[in-house]
Amino acid sequence: MLTLSEPTLLRSQNLIDGQWRDAGLRARLAVTDPATAEAFANVADSNAGDARLAADAAAAAFPAWSRRPARERAQLLKRWHALILDHQEDLARIISTEQGKPLKEARGEVQYGASYVEWFAEEATRICGDIVAEAVPGRKLLVLKEPVGVVAAITPWNFPLAMIARKIAPALAAGCTVVAKPAEDTPLTALALAWLAQQAGVPAGVINIVTASREHTPGVVDAWLADSRVRKVTFTGSTPVGKHLARESAATLKKLSLELGGNAPFIVFDDADLDAAVDGLMASKFRNGGQTCVCPNRVYVHDAVHDAFVERLAQRVAALHVGPATEDAAQIGPMINARAVDKIARHVEDAVARGARVVTGGKRVRSADGPHYYAPTVLIDATPAMELSCEETFGPVAPIFRFRDEAEVIRDANDTPFGLAAYFYSSDIRRIWRVAQALETGMVGINEGAIAAEAAPFGGVKESGYGREGSRHGLDDYMHTKYLCQGQLG
Ligand code: SIN
Repeated sequence: MLTLSEPTLLRSQNLIDGQWRDAGLRARLAVTDPATAEAFANVADSNAGDARLAADAAAAAFPAWSRRPARERAQLLKRWHALILDHQEDLARIISTEQGKPLKEARGEVQYGASYVEWFAEEATRICGDIVAEAVPGRKLLVLKEPVGVVAAITPWNFPLAMIARKIAPALAAGCTVVAKPAEDTPLTALALAWLAQQAGVPAGVINIVTASREHTPGVVDAWLADSRVRKVTFTGSTPVGKHLARESAATLKKLSLELGGNAPFIVFDDADLDAAVDGLMASKFRNGGQTCVCPNRVYVHDAVHDAFVERLAQRVAALHVGPATEDAAQIGPMINARAVDKIARHVEDAVARGARVVTGGKRVRSADGPHYYAPTVLIDATPAMELSCEETFGPVAPIFRFRDEAEVIRDANDTPFGLAAYFYSSDIRRIWRVAQALETGMVGINEGAIAAEAAPFGGVKESGYGREGSRHGLDDYMHTKYLCQGQLG
């Protein structure tokens, strides 16, 4: 049962042009608690017609919003940021209930998401162009930064607040307007966030949110892809969907930011501080039950420290408390749905069939509480032939691969089409620079497992996508560059 101190935060309709509206066909989508797999709320199940209305509203709001002085846009974002923090506990409860994130982590997600809103409120007033040294007398060359226009934001379920905040905040800071579709599993957080933006004074049409079921999502998204007024698509999710968006948006040549799947390596060299490496792996692997694109998926440990590392890790993993996310003690909540927990079980079974050994975990747990719990797991003797080496497990499973030399581990770490994040632990400064430069990823944690921050450029290379979120680069992705050449000045 979800009870809030501000019950109005629980919205069940789309936000279009400042109005809370049912879907045109009045269809509804049930929102389920992953802990019990039971429905506890419902929202609009929208279609292409609703998506077009949202795009109409965003296109109509764009001229006035983009002309608002940057200082005013920044002030509205600051007010939104303050309201998010004022409602932190309610927002954390919504996240925890619809996504299954342990409450303590959900509170952290509210802070994390809010930090992007604050960061981009500050960046809004620092949008600068250039005046270029003139090559020809009597001419001035100026470079302006302009908002791209209407942005379509499509967000995932694993960070229902932070992902939408880090897309909408830079869009608004740049002067863009937004149509957004949150994941079908977690629509309530996005709607609550939009309601707070409305209370902060963000004008009608600047943020529009359309919710839809898995079945109706293609209709909503394709309507935006086909709409030439939508000038940018920003998406966090799987690589196959990212490729679809890239293909379909080619017809109108939209700007794209794609934050896609990962297969992060986590490397522990023989000169590493083993306690720090265990702490780092606990933080990065078991955060959100392992359901994070930047979670390590393959843990490479040098032969000389393998047994000591595994022993310390296994002790910590076995002590993790698994339980309903809204209970304060929970460290690992339920997985998002049956498909997710089935995939984890399949990866572990495949690994064991191919020779891996379970050190701890390796099974479904707490079935009396609900069907979606999986024990935090450590496997040893993992090899590249196993499914979990090629595909993100997206669950609380740490497979350990033994290695003997640096060149071999770099080759194996890079032997994947993905390139989002990588981590390694070493105390040798020469090795640190060598390895950091050799890893083919957009982000590298060096002796650090928690790398995401509002001031850092988040994003990948290879089939993990392109574009950056957060930092000043995250604002650039919502703007284009216009060059002015004024002559006859001599
Ligand atoms: C993600 O899983 O895509 C986002 C993770 C993060 O922001 O740390």
